[in-house]
Amino acid sequence: MGVGALIAAALLFGGSAGTAALRHGAQTSPIYGVQLPKGYRDWVLISVAQEKGRNNDIRAILGNAIAVKAFREHRRPFPDGAIIVRLAWRYQSSARNDAVFPAPQSFVAGAPTNVQVSVKDAKRYAASGGWGYGQFEGGLPNQDRALAETCFACHRKLAVTEPGADLVFTSYSP
Ligand code: HEC
Repeated sequence: MGVGALIAAALLFGGSAGTAALRHGAQTSPIYGVQLPKGYRDWVLISVAQEKGRNNDIRAILGNAIAVKAFREHRRPFPDGAIIVRLAWRYQSSARNDAVFPAPQSFVAGAPTNVQVSVKDAKRYAASGGWGYGQFEGGLPNQDRALAETCFACHRKLAVTEPGADLVFTSYSP
């Protein structure tokens, strides 16, 4: 195993290198080392979703060129290099918009909550179904290891009911 591989292993399994990165304000997610991709806000819209309950948000799912191509061609598993980004905002009613409607009916995106990222690299992330995960708030990776562990723990459940989905819930909305 080369030095690079050793460092990668230490980062992946939370060794001393990982701890040091954390102390210095890491730019990547714990466990996976996922970065907020540059220019993601300009990526192509795959679909939208809304979550009620505790999240009470409205979300947009975007993909880079590799991910979008795979979505459009119904290609699974996703090829290496595919990145899917999920943006979310508080879901709130708009008095401003409602003022021009006959009855209250308008709901819009409020303050951003967080951005979640799934990165496909079958080899690097072999232990988590080929996906690396990260959650970002205000542009910075959330450093909570327990939170990072929930991503694969939940996404893997899809493999039981839908083995061909490659752990991705969202489908492309034409
Ligand atoms: C309790 C289950 C659960 C957990 C935990 C979870 N997800 Fe998801 N995720 C979902 C579901 C269901 C969807 C699709 C519906 C939605 O977006 O509301 C989704 C959607 C996504 C999407 C859009 C692409 C897709 O797979 O549909 C990304 C990206 C994503 N999650 C990343 C993450 C990351 C990163 C974490 C951890 C920080 C995480 N998720 C934790 C269940 C979960």
